[in-house]
Amino acid sequence: MCGIVGYIGNLDSKEILLKGLEKLEYRGYDSAGIAVMNDNGVQVFKEKGRIADLRNIVDEDVVANTGIGHTRWATHGVPSTVNAHPHQSNSGRFTLVHNGVIENYDILKREYLQGVALKSDTDTEIIVQLIELFVNEGSYTEEAFRKTLTLLKGSYAIALLDAENNETIFVAKNKSPLLVGLGETFNVVASDAMAMLQVTDQYVELMDKEIVIVTKDAVKIQTLNGEEISRDPYTAELDASDIEKGTYPHYMLKEIDEQPLVMRKIIQKYQDDNGELTIDQEIVEAMNDADRIYIIAAGTSYHAGLVGKQFIEKIAKIPVEVHISSEFGYNIPLLSEKPLFIFISQSGETADSRAVLVNVKEMGHKALTITNVPGSTLSREADYTLLLHAGPEIAVASTKAYTAQIAVLSILAEVTAKSRGLELNFNLVQELGIVANAMEVLCDAKEDFEDIARKFLSTTRNAFFIGRGIDYYVGLEGALKLKEISYIQAEGFAGGELKHGTIALIENGTPIIALATQESVNLSIRGNVKEVVARGANPCIISMKGLETEEDSFIIPEVNELLTPLISVIPLQLISYFAALHRECDVDKPRNLAKSVTVE
Ligand code: M6R
Repeated sequence: MCGIVGYIGNLDSKEILLKGLEKLEYRGYDSAGIAVMNDNGVQVFKEKGRIADLRNIVDEDVVANTGIGHTRWATHGVPSTVNAHPHQSNSGRFTLVHNGVIENYDILKREYLQGVALKSDTDTEIIVQLIELFVNEGSYTEEAFRKTLTLLKGSYAIALLDAENNETIFVAKNKSPLLVGLGETFNVVASDAMAMLQVTDQYVELMDKEIVIVTKDAVKIQTLNGEEISRDPYTAELDASDIEKGTYPHYMLKEIDEQPLVMRKIIQKYQDDNGELTIDQEIVEAMNDADRIYIIAAGTSYHAGLVGKQFIEKIAKIPVEVHISSEFGYNIPLLSEKPLFIFISQSGETADSRAVLVNVKEMGHKALTITNVPGSTLSREADYTLLLHAGPEIAVASTKAYTAQIAVLSILAEVTAKSRGLELNFNLVQELGIVANAMEVLCDAKEDFEDIARKFLSTTRNAFFIGRGIDYYVGLEGALKLKEISYIQAEGFAGGELKHGTIALIENGTPIIALATQESVNLSIRGNVKEVVARGANPCIISMKGLETEEDSFIIPEVNELLTPLISVIPLQLISYFAALHRECDVDKPRNLAKSVTVE
């Protein structure tokens, strides 16, 4: 979703800002812009489309040591150059970029800005015009900024330039992520450390309702009430090479291929010196204290949660409910007496999940976040965190984070079960090792999946994924993967559910991707395949070794039945990838989507 960068120092800021924005491209955007400031004032360059389009219009001759930049994912107003950030006040004195959504922007417009001609359809422009209004009424800039912030309802991360003070960037944050990066003779602002890793790995986290005055030599953090805050920086543990594609044509393919490595890393990170799986004792106690677990997540993370429920219920014997975060607020179930909330989020920034976390904390309940991003909002605000150790996931379509989430959930279930004295009939470390090897076999079979994608998906309008039990949950994830990057209308169904309505959509040649990795339901799912074949469907059966028949399109290696989602998803990821390629889609940056969904 939207991204912010800012630089103030001794160097020309243009290239630093543009490179920073390129690093944020993965978050999803539809327009971009930068504003640079020198003794001659502020110059704004903005363009609909890609950063490459923006580069074409930036005036190379302008040299400026201070600047801010933005990638916009449209919420208020269509994607266009006018609606792109930065936005300027009418006199041109103030220039601002903003992430988030100002919920009361219409009210503010009516109450304060009746006589002001607005240029864009955005909620953001209201902020910059309000600052100018208060300055015109006699406030100095910082005061006007504070006054404006106290009026805003909703989420924001803001970087502001004042043309009459080219030695400062004014920054503020509420609910949307924002960091200040520290350098020797410069400082930077970024919504994600990845953006500015090119110049520093030292960052200070900003908390909600803080305002920061950033100059090239100093960073002054305050609350909105003016209380000074001192906070130590942390080192962003990101390797610049982790965020490069290397020889891969797409991040998605690279990230699919990284899954065996991630599995092994997770085993290693969660093993103690004796080779036993271990997690923080406080988390184990919280699991044991709970009479019911509520998993809250969105998208792919929600699908991982569905698999996690199986682990926690079957292995640790604690009842689990899984909820979509954007729905939870309106449909809060009757909570048990001692609930534990588990938030699953690759980014740790998903606004829908964060809204539930805030609610849950207000109710006084404990929360654990399972995330890939240390220091992310969901991690900071929960009582406990378990990390995925998957390395940065750049492609919008989540792949390695999904399998990492499932692996970490299996470890959580196993360690909890052991602490409760429950006997396990398998050794999870060994089984995850077998999974990692099986993942390698599947990643090496790319040509087979390219053939399957060509045969089943190159011209179809729609596709259905079916499975029973845990395969059904993997089917949901397969359908999400396919639709988000190839734009084929894809849906996942429980095998037995098709005949209750959806079978009406089956026509000659409709692809049905069926998963058959569970012995207990193997015959039933094959029965469901027969039902759709009888109506003209084109079946692609992916089964597991030991359960295969001659009609199957691909047979995955055998792993522990409970852990099959870790490997059965890989064919679905690769089939989706090749289907998107065949259809010439932008695999890593699918239309309308953002990597981090930071608005509700
Ligand atoms: O960062 P999160 O895991 O909280 O993100 C949740 C979803 O937005 C995300 O999984 C989304 O569904 C992916 N694009 C799917 O590939």
